[in-house]
Amino acid sequence: MNRETIKNNLQTILIGSEVIVMDEVDSTNDVAKRYLEKDAHDGLVIIANSQSRGKGRLKRSWISVPEVGIYLSVILKPRISPDHIPQLTLLAGVAAVSAVNAFSRTPARLKWPNDILLKGKKLCGVLCEYCPPEENKGGIVMGIGINVNHGPSQFPEDLRNTATSLKIENGEPVDRLALILSVLNHLDQEYEAYLLGGEQQVIKKWADHSDMFGKHILLTQGSSSTGGTAVGLDSLGRLKVLTDDGREQVFDSGEVTLSLP
Ligand code: BTN
Repeated sequence: MNRETIKNNLQTILIGSEVIVMDEVDSTNDVAKRYLEKDAHDGLVIIANSQSRGKGRLKRSWISVPEVGIYLSVILKPRISPDHIPQLTLLAGVAAVSAVNAFSRTPARLKWPNDILLKGKKLCGVLCEYCPPEENKGGIVMGIGINVNHGPSQFPEDLRNTATSLKIENGEPVDRLALILSVLNHLDQEYEAYLLGGEQQVIKKWADHSDMFGKHILLTQGSSSTGGTAVGLDSLGRLKVLTDDGREQVFDSGEVTLSLP
């Protein structure tokens, strides 16, 4: 996998304006942030073969086995206020699920706010980080991790029941380069559509790729949990829940587990 092959095969307007391919990094999001401090290009993409300190949401780590996964981050510099960042997480999810589904025998589905599940197990995660503008060097780092060609033994034991890869579910390996190109092409299309048309279409597409609505969930925020039925997303992309005690509540963050009422 090299920079030229990726750059020459992209069909994008912005994403991949510059592409950097590295072997092992701490975290592609952290590398991207360091580039941002040096005033990197809008659309710069960092791709790594492995990560020693891959980061997930809620301060979790992201297991980043060399050669088998996709670990990439994109720098974006939209002129939006920080409260719009959650919608970019949804946008990344839409792009990633669309790309993955072109390579998956069974359709992957989105779980709010940032998970892509295949047969109910985690296949892909998105981590968007906001870097405030200092001397105009701010922006957003959009990180995407996909479990592509992992065998079951390449996940730590405690994740084997909850994580999966395309290879495990398809029964055969997937071309990682082709999937990277597809992710970046989809990201570019979704981002251009968002810049032109706004966030409502992103929110609608996100809901079309999810089957969590109408299901009973447990939403955990720190030490508090709320049980209820996931009803939909509001116009800001927040999760609407009809709680077990009959109220409609809106959540802007949290961890969702599907559960019995
Ligand atoms: C999550 O599901 O909690 C988010 C996982 C995001 C993982 C990706 S891998 C590429 C990028 N670099 C990181 O350190 N994290 C993201």
